Amino acid sequence: MTELAKWFDFNQLGDERGLLCAIEAQRCIPFSIKRIYYIYDTDSGVARGFHAHHKLDQVLIAVSGNCKVKLDDGVITEHVVLDSRTRGLSMPAMLWHEMYDFSDDCVLLCLADDYYDESDYIRDYNEFQSLTIV
Ligand code: TYD
Repeated sequence: MTELAKWFDFNQLGDERGLLCAIEAQRCIPFSIKRIYYIYDTDSGVARGFHAHHKLDQVLIAVSGNCKVKLDDGVITEHVVLDSRTRGLSMPAMLWHEMYDFSDDCVLLCLADDYYDESDYIRDYNEFQSLTIV
């Protein structure tokens, strides 16, 4: 099942020295990047996220290690594995997400189309569900 998970595949450039992956805004992902942040050193039993956004568009990439993500649009729930440095998971607005099962070496890179704004967060699942009912 991949109804909720949309992926962006990035070109891996490599030569005898090693590998390189470049992500260009508006070309490899469909927005301009205003903010990047990364999640790392997460204990294996910890889950993060537990929110959706009113407007924010993001792409998540496990640039090291792996983790799992639960996606929920208010109707369907889906679990995906993030384990590729050259593949980004689309995390559009109004998609509830929870990240869990972080490997020790996991670095989860997040590209966002806007600055941090707490008022854009929906942290109450019941509120999220009520907003998804048309
Ligand atoms: P939070 O969004 O709760 O993390 P997650 O959803 O991944 O579990 O963010 C943790 C803290 O960091 C919270 O106090 C808000 C702050 N923060 C920023 O200041 N800027 C940011 O870009 C992000 C993502 C979080």
